[in-house]
Amino acid sequence: MSTPQLAGTPVLILKEGSNRSRGRDALHANIMAAEIVAEAVRSALGPKGMDKMLVDGLGDVTITSDGRTVLDEMDIQHPAAKMVVEVAKTQDDMVGDGTTTAVVIAGELLKKAEDLLDQKIHPTTITKGYRQAAETALKVLDEIAIPIEPSNEKMMEAVARTSLYSKIISGERKHFAKIAVQAIKQIAEEKGRKVNVDIDQVQIQKKEGKSLGETTILNGLIISKEAASTGTCPTCVGNVCEIGSTSKSVKDAKIALINRALEIKKTEFDAKIQIRDPTKMKLFMDKEHDMLRDMVQKILDAGAKVVFCQKGIDDLAQHFLDRHGIYTVRNIKDEDMEKLSRATGAKIVTRINDIEPADLGYAATVEEREVGDEKMTFVEGCKNPKSICIFIRGGAKHVIDEAERAIHDALCVVRNVIQDPRIVAGGGAPEVELARRLRKYAGGVGGKEQLAINAFAEALERIPTTLAENAGLEPINVIVELRKKHEEGQLWSGVNIPSKKVGDMEEAQVHEPLKVVRQAITSAMEAATMILRIDDVIASSKSPMETPTRASTEIPGMSPYM
Ligand SMILES: Nc1ncnc2c1ncn2[C@@H]1O[C@H](COP(=O)(O)OP(=O)(O)O)[C@@H](O)[C@H]1O
Ligand SMILES: [Mg+2]
Repeated sequence: MSTPQLAGTPVLILKEGSNRSRGRDALHANIMAAEIVAEAVRSALGPKGMDKMLVDGLGDVTITSDGRTVLDEMDIQHPAAKMVVEVAKTQDDMVGDGTTTAVVIAGELLKKAEDLLDQKIHPTTITKGYRQAAETALKVLDEIAIPIEPSNEKMMEAVARTSLYSKIISGERKHFAKIAVQAIKQIAEEKGRKVNVDIDQVQIQKKEGKSLGETTILNGLIISKEAASTGTCPTCVGNVCEIGSTSKSVKDAKIALINRALEIKKTEFDAKIQIRDPTKMKLFMDKEHDMLRDMVQKILDAGAKVVFCQKGIDDLAQHFLDRHGIYTVRNIKDEDMEKLSRATGAKIVTRINDIEPADLGYAATVEEREVGDEKMTFVEGCKNPKSICIFIRGGAKHVIDEAERAIHDALCVVRNVIQDPRIVAGGGAPEVELARRLRKYAGGVGGKEQLAINAFAEALERIPTTLAENAGLEPINVIVELRKKHEEGQLWSGVNIPSKKVGDMEEAQVHEPLKVVRQAITSAMEAATMILRIDDVIASSKSPMETPTRASTEIPGMSPYM
């Protein structure tokens, strides 16, 4: 870039070393950076998509096909490429699935825009066309979506199965889909005409060992802490307490949640008490003893058999509790206390003096179990818990980590369907239908925008072609057949991956929430148009920005098959 001159004197506006690119060059560099990102995840799309192995700076390995995780771990620096990463994040935060789809569409929209720019079409014309196309696409989606009954569990399971199909754990998708539906139905709360579903209330615990098929859902929670209680009750015979249980396993458990320490409160300032008389010393200790015993007595009077304490428990208080066979766990995390409250119905008590039977919660069993090399507290058999736990088992750490990500997607899609009970078929069927209708719509739009609308239609078709490509099918043949079928009115014709043929995806029970597809189109369009509107990139000398070249398509350390 040449420096502007004023009567022979250069006018310096930017700091030395700043990097500036403008117009077509800036646009070209940005588009290429975004495209490279989309290319990196494209091969992961769909049931036959490949997984990525990501190794971080510490050598930790993540194996995943989840679009957001791949992009997060890639540690992308280029600002335009980062905007595509944002698409995946938005998609994940809003609807929890469809991240790869959104990124692939965004990349393709930009690729098509590049062709239009080569034909001297102005970026604002392209963005206008893209906006019109997205608006029309959303309308068509609403029109073709299939409403379902919010109580239709079979359909919800089908939606969860579709989401799980593209994951490592797809072999167990039926089992996991059932668990996801059961979990969401359990924690959903009707508030007037709205249904509140807080995914965080599904606690995910995972532990290597056993197999994925042995993953279970608990009507309760697992606290990753062992019992503080000794498990032996000195006043009772053997290990069995007078109230009929050992203190490491309590049946019919009445549960107290206490968020203060079961200790004598320390003074806020350092105080020194000099006791010279040994009898006074005894009095002093007796007082402490009595105070702790009273504290424990209050809990016992309320009828608690289990105490979860957010803070510490004094050894003496612990001894009193043990004597009554009370199961205790201390130093529980704040969020676990909240969850325990939602699961067992117990109120969190701050003032022990005020504890009442009504403050206690209930679980059929509270038990310490050894899982692998760790001792955990299982709280099971809660009555209508509003916080529950999925306990993932599996052969290896990488597998259970990916299972957790897959379950997150499945939980999100079920939540989406409960909150907005409309679905579409998957396998690229809605995208082909939208492309067909958009082409028709473009015909009626005058001006160069229609070229952009047609480009948008083609970008959507990248979903079925990528699904086909990843499954080893011939994408051209597939898209030609799909277009024909949709022209004939077969609305849900898509790429049936298991049968490796074009087929009716509704019949194949491959369903997706309308919300996921809507969000993918919206966020892809927004990212693409935002990148297309940039005609000037000014980067400070410290910025890591570099103009990407095709050679940088290969991301260091990543598989060449991507
Ligand atoms: N059995 C199936 N046959 C065809 N397509 C499927 C099947 N199961 C899932 N899909 C498709 O795979 C795509 C989702 O793939 P996925 O790898 O999960 O990416 P995303 O991150 O976008 O959810 C969707 O288009 C969905 O319709
Ligand atoms: Mg998915």
